[in-house]
Amino acid sequence: MITIQNIILEFEPEMENLLPALKKISAVFGYVGEKEANVLADYFGVPESKVFETASFYDEIKTEKQPEILIQVCNSANCTVNDSFSIIKEIENSFKIKVQEISCLGRCAEGPIMVVNGKIYEKVTKSSVHSILEEYL
Ligand code: FES
Repeated sequence: MITIQNIILEFEPEMENLLPALKKISAVFGYVGEKEANVLADYFGVPESKVFETASFYDEIKTEKQPEILIQVCNSANCTVNDSFSIIKEIENSFKIKVQEISCLGRCAEGPIMVVNGKIYEKVTKSSVHSILEEYL
């Protein structure tokens, strides 16, 4: 099991290594929270606020736990006719999230249907998936 201590010991405790350590911790744990920032602050000898200030400059470093997301798209006949496969491809290519294909939900007239963490979206298009998923990412 990888721990935060394992990660920080890969870096000399010099200020120039704070950013690479932050990036690695965010990549491994998904975000840099209070606990991680506290350990980094002690190790690098800086205030915790400096750790968060540094982290906040980079989009790739998350400082809050990111929501887990389950995206499902109907792959039954009526939704497929309305281009659900191109929606799946758009999500997987743009967001690098694997979409779970599901069978008809009985809302065929409103298709294509997408379900995100249990919430149903109707008449989804390749462009509307972006605004919908921005709520979750
Ligand atoms: S075919 Fe998709 S909801 Fe029925």
